[in-house]
Amino acid sequence: MAQPADLRMTRIPLNHGAGRMPALGFGTLIPDPAVTITATRDALEAGFRHFDCAERYRNEREVGAALQAGLAGGGVAREDIFVTTKLWNSNHRPARVEPAFEASLQRLGLKYLDLYFIHTPFAFQPGDDQDPRDQNGNVIYDQGVTLLDTWRAMETLVDHGKCRAIGLSDVGLDELKPIYEAARIKPSVVQVESHPYLPETELLEFCKERGIVLLAFAPLGHGMKPGLLEDPVISAIAARVGKTPAQVLLAWAIQRGTALLATPKSAARARENFDISALPQDALDEINRIQTRQRLNTVVKTGVPGFIPKGG
Ligand SMILES: NC(=O)c1ccc[n+]([C@@H]2O[C@H](COP(=O)([O-])OP(=O)(O)OC[C@H]3O[C@@H](n4cnc5c(N)ncnc54)[C@H](OP(=O)(O)O)[C@@H]3O)[C@@H](O)[C@H]2O)c1
Repeated sequence: MAQPADLRMTRIPLNHGAGRMPALGFGTLIPDPAVTITATRDALEAGFRHFDCAERYRNEREVGAALQAGLAGGGVAREDIFVTTKLWNSNHRPARVEPAFEASLQRLGLKYLDLYFIHTPFAFQPGDDQDPRDQNGNVIYDQGVTLLDTWRAMETLVDHGKCRAIGLSDVGLDELKPIYEAARIKPSVVQVESHPYLPETELLEFCKERGIVLLAFAPLGHGMKPGLLEDPVISAIAARVGKTPAQVLLAWAIQRGTALLATPKSAARARENFDISALPQDALDEINRIQTRQRLNTVVKTGVPGFIPKGG
């Protein structure tokens, strides 16, 4: 696949003319509010132009404040950055979609969003409790709304002009296909866990054939050790090409045609994660031959996020 010489500048065109998404994204799933601010600022300074947020992360205000300060001080225009956030499970009822979207926009301090996701295909009991549980501690799901109902309300947001594209997160082909077929406005991006241990090849092919971008979360395997960052194939390639294992994993993700979300929390890590360059074809082939298969995040099974502290 032809790639620009500088992977860091890769921008992937979105369907129905909704602009281009920087492939190298910064994820904001950071529990600490102060770290959220410094990490977002450092990411912007390092060169990241794509910021992935969520109402569920409870830090849109901090991300927004860091972005506003960074834009004002760094000569970066709003049009130069790409900002997304996500509708949480307790807001799937169509009447709740636009208010939830507006509340996110307000917390971020923005006038429009580049992309808005449905965070998971699971609808929870509607309301302001993000984690509704019954007396036995089980999640209370909402049987009164379908994913297509919610998608229709997302389409209306695009019609109203405050959101340029819409997408799905934590879905498999079983959920994506019916929405894709029924949609008036097709999903532009699908955000799922993906890395060499979970390449999601079938989903990626489906997306590529239809002009949908696959946006990979956990490209470093959530940083778990032992794990991808210590994989012998990745480490050997890193030593050979003079890069770190993280840089090898991020380059592989972009060169196979996905976008990605990394979450560096220090300035040094932000520079490291941004400073990627293309791997030779033999290295890509070696990574593609890795046989280990592992899903790290069970959010796709229940809608309950795996990496957010309880009560948060
Ligand atoms: N849609 C969903 O349901 C969903 C679920 C999960 C995540 N996401 C999104 O995806 C983003 C990325 O997920 P993630 O943070 O789990 O991905 P990740 O990049 O695979 O893992 C982050 C971990 O990697 C470590 N790390 C970062 N850069 C490193 C480097 N250069 N060398 C070694 N370790 C490094 C970090 O350690 P330190 O903490 O020490 O910096 C952190 O523990 C999230 O922020 C969020 O926006 C979405």
